[in-house]
This record gives sequence, C-alpha cells and structure tokens, in this order.
Amino acid sequence: MESVSHENRLFAPTSEFAQKAAVSGMDAYRAMYEKSIQDPEGFWAEAAEELHWFKKWDTVLDDSNAPFFKWYDGSRTNLSYNCLDRHVAEGRGDKVAIHWEGEPGDTRDLTYSQMLLEVSRFANVLKARGVSKGDRIAIYLPMVPELAIAVLACARIGAVHSVIFAGFSADSIRDRVLDSETCMVITADGGYRRGKMLELKKIVDEGVETCACVKDVIVVKRGEDHPVDCSMVAGRDSWYHDLVADVSDECPAEEMEAEDLLFLLYTSGTTGKPKGIMHTTAGYQVFSYLTSKYVFDLKQEDVYWCTADVGWITGHTYIVYGIMQNGVTQVMYEGAPNHPDEGRFWEIVEKYKVSIFYTAPTAIRAFMKWGDQWVDGRDLSSLRLLGTVGEPINPEAWMWYHSKIGGERCPIVDTWWQTETGGHMLTPIPGAVPTKPGCATLPFFGVEPAILTDDAKEVDAGILAIKKPWPGMLRGIYGDPQRFKDTYWCKWDGQYYFPGDGARRDEDGYIWILGRVDDVVNVSGHRIGTAELESVFVEHKDVAESAVVGVPHEIKGQGLIAFVTVIDGRDHDDHLRKELVTMIDKGIGKFARPERILFSSDLPKTRSGKIMRRLLRDIAEGKELGNTTTLADPSVVEELQQQYLNG
Ligand code: PRX
Repeated sequence: MESVSHENRLFAPTSEFAQKAAVSGMDAYRAMYEKSIQDPEGFWAEAAEELHWFKKWDTVLDDSNAPFFKWYDGSRTNLSYNCLDRHVAEGRGDKVAIHWEGEPGDTRDLTYSQMLLEVSRFANVLKARGVSKGDRIAIYLPMVPELAIAVLACARIGAVHSVIFAGFSADSIRDRVLDSETCMVITADGGYRRGKMLELKKIVDEGVETCACVKDVIVVKRGEDHPVDCSMVAGRDSWYHDLVADVSDECPAEEMEAEDLLFLLYTSGTTGKPKGIMHTTAGYQVFSYLTSKYVFDLKQEDVYWCTADVGWITGHTYIVYGIMQNGVTQVMYEGAPNHPDEGRFWEIVEKYKVSIFYTAPTAIRAFMKWGDQWVDGRDLSSLRLLGTVGEPINPEAWMWYHSKIGGERCPIVDTWWQTETGGHMLTPIPGAVPTKPGCATLPFFGVEPAILTDDAKEVDAGILAIKKPWPGMLRGIYGDPQRFKDTYWCKWDGQYYFPGDGARRDEDGYIWILGRVDDVVNVSGHRIGTAELESVFVEHKDVAESAVVGVPHEIKGQGLIAFVTVIDGRDHDDHLRKELVTMIDKGIGKFARPERILFSSDLPKTRSGKIMRRLLRDIAEGKELGNTTTLADPSVVEELQQQYLNG
C-alpha cells in the first residue's frame, strides 16, 4: 500500500456542512489566515479574549530572546479553570464532559461539575502530600477518568505533569522520572487491554526502585473484578480512593504565570535519549483551545471521540486541554479496538452517537483489513466530521474512511503536527478547505510553513520549515537548552523552526507530508528513534554494533528492521534474537519491537566508517541496491541481502 504521489481527487465539504461551519468557504479561510499572518498579535489577542484570565497580558509575543519566545507575558491564568470552572460558572456544569467506557464494558459519565469536584479533591490530595507549584509528577495510568483528573489536578495547583504512556517499560519510566526528578508517580494496579489486565503497578515498582526522588506513589484501583497482585510499599504507596475520601471538595485554581511550565512530555529524537518537551501555560492554552474549535468545528451539541491515549500529545491536547476548554461532550475509551471483537469502535460510535471521530491511519488500515462486515449494519449516521493524526495516510485508507465510515458526507481533517508544536499546524479547516486523499493541505491560522533546501532556498519539494513562532510551540527541552537550540533552530540559523519532516507543495499550494528526514520512525503512529533501539541492543554482551531502519509496513505505516553484528566468535541464533527482543520490551516497551532482526559480520560503511543506512533501507525494502562503490567492503551488503531474502 504505497502512497500515490500524484493524487488529485478533490473533495469539497458538502453545502450542509459548510453552511453551519464556523469557517465557511475558502474565502473566509483565506481572509482569516491573511489576518493571522499580517497581524499575528492582533489575531492571537482576539483568540485569547474568549478565555478566562485572572490578569490579561502586557504583550502578546515577546521575541526578544529567540528562540526562547514568550507568549502573553504578564498574564495570569489557569488551564484547569478554563477547562472546568468556566463552564460551571457559565451554566454548563450539568453537561456531560466524559462518557467513559472501560474495555470490559463498564461505564461512567462525568459532568463538568463532577469533573471540577473530582479534580479539586485530587488537587487537594496533591497539596496535602506536599506537592507545590513547579514540582514534577509522573502519571502512568490506563485510559480511565482518573488520568484526565490527575492531569487537570496538576494544572490546577501548578504541578508539572509528565504523562508516561502505559505501554512504556520500567526502564523508560526510570529514565523519565530521573531526568525530571519527579517526586510522585500516579498509577493504577492495572488496566485492561485485549481482555487482559496489564499489571501497571508492578512495572512502576520496578521502574522507580532506584529513584530516590520518588517519595509518593498513588494507586488507582482498576482491578476490582480481576484482582491484581499489587503490593503496596509502606510509607510510599497509597490508594487513590483512600486519599480522596479525606479532603475538601474545593480547591481554587492557582494563578499561573504565562510561561510557567504546564507539562513535560518525553518524545524520541535522533539520539538514544528521549527529550522532555516543555509546554507552558498561556500560549498552549490558547493554541489548544483555538485549534480544537476550528479544526473540529466544535458545536455545543457535538459528541467528540479521539481514540488516542492521553499518554501521547494527541491525548493531551485533543482529549484533555483543547476539547475540555471548548466544553463539549466526549467519549473516552480504555481498551483495544478489537475487543471483544473488531466492531468495538463502531459499536461505541453508534451507542454514544459520536459526531466527530479522530483516529490514526494505522487504525484505519487495521479496520480495512478486518473487513467491512464490522461496519456494515452499524448506524454511523451521527458522524459529521472525521480526523486523522500521527502519520501520513495513504489515499486508499483515506478513501475507505471517507466512504465506509464517513458515508461520503463527512469532511476528513488530516492533521499534521507534533509533540513539539502542541497542536495542529497543517490541516484542512473542514467547512472551508477542499480535501485531497492523503494530504494535510494548508496551514492553520498563524502558522507560516515553508519548504526549503538545506541552505534555506524555497523549493516545491524539500524540508518542511515553520517561519513564525506560534503560541503552542515548545519552549524547550527539559534541562537541555542547548539541545533545544541545536535540534530545532540551528538548521537555518534561527530563522525557521525545523520539525524533521519532508514535504512537497502541489500546484494548488497544498502541502503533502513526505515522512521524516531524520532517524525517527513512526510505527503505528508511535514515534520511535532508531538510536534508542540501537543503544538497547549494544548493551547485550555479544553485540558489537547495530543499525535500525524504518521500512513501509502495510498496517503500521512503518516497521523497524534491525541489523546487528555480533562480537567475533559469538553465536547468533534464535536464542540471541529472543534475548534482544526481550531487551527492547524491557528497555522501551513492546510497541517498539522490530519486525525482524538480521545478523551479519559487519555493517555497510563508508571508508570513513559511517554506517550507510540508505543501503540498509534498500535491503530491508527488497529494492535493488543503490551505489555501493563508496563502501569499505561491498561484500557486506551482499551477505545481508542474501540473508534478508532467505527470510
Ligand atoms: O512525521 C510527522 C508525523 O508524526 C510526527 C510527530 O510525532 P509525534 O510528536 O509523536 O506526534 C504525533 C501526533 C501529533 C511528525 O513529525 N505526523 C503527525 N501527523 C501527521 C504526520 N505525518 C503525516 N501526516 C500527518 N497528519
């Protein structure tokens, strides 16, 4: 399933959709976009006026110390206030905030008032445990309401949350906890996934065993029907339900400064060490609010469902902050799309009358493979808008989504953005911008993209760059300002932000994302640095060296192929292969397992010793090999290719 590079089918929004849309028609989009680019400060000030501020800003954008930009400097606000109190104060307290559904079928509905109460109570728990503004707190939870509650409770008192996706291993928890010196971990005894209980607390115990900074572990009880063997460490661990039983329902939201750190979210880069991406308060608040409002064309009567996990940026922005600031009702689902069967998502859409559905291309490809019988017969007529995120979507999957799920009437917003950007950057505005299958189309308001060569010349196909600062942009890498500058701002001398993706612009000015230009691979929409796997492999006593590359994968978008050389005289067999897979499970998480591990006596290198990944990719994609004349030892690639072909 390859991306067709010259796709030119064009799908305009239906007139019914366009008529009711917040931004209706291309002229409206263009006018608003022009304004946002000509007068960004005016545009972003107007957007911010829609939210609550304890004190308004002195300046909208302060770029005097670029790339350390400041937004809404001088203001004081609180994200939890804007997500909860504002709605309750304005009479929307009885509206359902979250229809939650657990994988086994248990459900809970929480209104905005109830969310405020739960968040306030838990914020009081945090305070009672000595947590104060600026303290870092790790959250390692399944998709239960307490995950959103814990995130908002941190925001309420100014604690910095660092959510760790509950598929990460104990070693990954340890690295993240130590890097940001978190004082507390919030977890659960377990979480359901495909009918099984993942024993999360056990993983946390192992992860924080050697982390002296962790003084407190708070445990949500999820395994009531399937008791989980969960031992509590005296003096460190407490049950969530015991703690919230003992505190007051009221906890006023802390007045946060504009650039106070809101959260850290670790993501992969080109080295073995994940980066703690920093997002701060006021700019992220406005950007998450406004992108949600326009890209999902949110209406008060909508029922929105994003299938991502809050452990990733999509869940931060488009489950918690952006969506809840808009005060709409959403569905939150704990488990797998194919449990108890492959029709689960469509059953949920039908049951809750979901009107906006946001998911990843990898899920869409899996549904296509599972067959139409899971969709046929379901009433999906409540849907009015569809979205995708996380990786390029191939036109075939886009067309299936459009016709089978969207009934040919729902616009699809293919949203390109990153952990670092905080929110949508390139995306159709649904009532305005006609879509093309597989294309993220045009920029969001205030976002000015460019496509450049290495030496900053504008071209039609090249490297994606962002010209202007935007409110949701990352403010740094935790503890490493130099890496922040080097990674994102040095490529074009501080003139542009460098996201790490390739792109091309077509004759309509639409931008097509071509995938990463660095050694980051997108497996099922999960961002994985190949260097992270390599550094795990070389910890094995028999491994001399390794190189991991990404290759196209029918369902996952990309898969990982690992090339490993063993120390002379050591065995390389299935036993070693199994050990290496176990090391990846332990070092990163099962989701980072490679498709294949190939052993060889050496890796293809240039005479100066640089590994030629391009050739490894050719081998792994079964392509004819490119130029091998610069290799120190050309026989190496032949050996690898033979091995690859022999299966
Ligand atoms: O390569 C792009 C790809 O995902 C990367 C960002 O990954 P992450 O920080 O984990 O955030 C994922 C969720 C926002 C990008 O650099 N990517 C994301 N969305 C798209 C995409 N590639 C193509 N089309 C998209 N819509």
